[in-house]
Amino acid sequence: STQAQILVASNRGPVSYAQDETGTLTAKRGGGGLVSGLSAIGPEAGALWVCSALGDGDREAVRRGVGEEGVRMLDIPADVHEDAYNGIANSVLWFMSHMLYQTPLEPAFGAEFRRQWASFETYNRAFAEALAEEAAQGASVLVQDYHLTLAPRMLRELRPDLRIGHFSHTPWAPPEYFRLLPDDIAAQLLGGILGADRAAFLTQRWADAFTDCCHAVLGPGIPSGTRIGVHGLGADADFLRKRSHEADVDERMVSLREQIGEGRKAIVRVDRTELSKNIVRGLLAFRQLLEDQPSWRERVVHVALAYPSRQDLAVYRDYMTEVQRLADEINSQYGTPGWTPVVLHLKDDFARSLAAYRLADVALVNPIRDGMNLVAKEVPVVSDAGCALVLSREAGAYEELGEDAIVVNPYDVSGTARALHEALSMPLDERAERTKRLAAAATALPPAQWFLDQLEALRAAA
Ligand code: G6P
Repeated sequence: STQAQILVASNRGPVSYAQDETGTLTAKRGGGGLVSGLSAIGPEAGALWVCSALGDGDREAVRRGVGEEGVRMLDIPADVHEDAYNGIANSVLWFMSHMLYQTPLEPAFGAEFRRQWASFETYNRAFAEALAEEAAQGASVLVQDYHLTLAPRMLRELRPDLRIGHFSHTPWAPPEYFRLLPDDIAAQLLGGILGADRAAFLTQRWADAFTDCCHAVLGPGIPSGTRIGVHGLGADADFLRKRSHEADVDERMVSLREQIGEGRKAIVRVDRTELSKNIVRGLLAFRQLLEDQPSWRERVVHVALAYPSRQDLAVYRDYMTEVQRLADEINSQYGTPGWTPVVLHLKDDFARSLAAYRLADVALVNPIRDGMNLVAKEVPVVSDAGCALVLSREAGAYEELGEDAIVVNPYDVSGTARALHEALSMPLDERAERTKRLAAAATALPPAQWFLDQLEALRAAA
């Protein structure tokens, strides 16, 4: 096979396969910034996407040699993937980078962790080897995210000729927090990324934290040629505006409007059900609003689209249960025969998300920490009549959108309740003006350009 000039590596790839009872495989293309960014380059440009088989359908596809041009799925043994993905990446690394650990939720670094870490190394090595095999002389390789922190160093050792970039889609924790990791692990993670010619982040804040960690853990004057960069991924305006006016979105708008009720305002949130997204405190703030400002009762509905994520992990399942329980509790405390205060949807439905964006009066984006948060950027682009944005200062998007949003401390439930009141009370013309400015800021760096900028910067750095 011919070798690729441009390679992307990530755990989750652009396509996944489902297998039905008859054994037939159907492909489903994923959404998201990275997928649309890479599609802009296309396989004809010689780009190859290396990703992991995630389920039985994917594994079967690899075994049968079914696949898409420009995509190579790695059939990493299920137990190795389980340890690397759920054990290390989505437990330790995710909780550490988002600073979600707090007593009594603490990481454990005993024998179980060390076993999972060995799998994490195996998993990263599988990517490094596949990339080394597929890459043409001097090719550019863009390694994505915390799952693949070790791969850049491993790849560098196998193929010194390559230009290697690493991109973090998550926050990066400052050294005081990062150093909760065992010293050897901390050094390996940083050293892994420093194997790249360029390490890039979504905001300056996360880039600075990474640099500070390098100095704190590896000592001053670390001998590294790694350049640090920032690329603030933006929303894809053309795609979103078109997609949000298709028939299935119109249908969802009719049914959502029915659930909200004519003439009522809607506070909308859309998230993966994920501890970092802070959905529970959002519900608590909504309850506080109904308590403190009784005039909003019967006049506002909180539409929470909380889609399942990482359900193999108990801590995620428990969080989902808590979201459901609290929504029910608020509804039984405050609901009336004609008014359901919280409308909660748990089934992933992109058309419904877009419908909610279009009709939102207020968007609530209150993560404890978030690399960027694309919902904050998508809502203003899609909104029909303008939407007030309540935004956590801990989301990367805050750096670009802070001025026209109503900014909250995600831990401050009362403050968030006051922000919701302010957002609901915002005059419609001011709302529309702010939405226009938010949309302009949100689309400053569309996914395709985000991707090309990284390629160009990598060529300049290497
Ligand atoms: C975050 C990560 C991505 C990940 C996504 C969904 O945005 O940065 O790498 O793909 O969450 O999580 P999942 O575990 O379902 O891939």
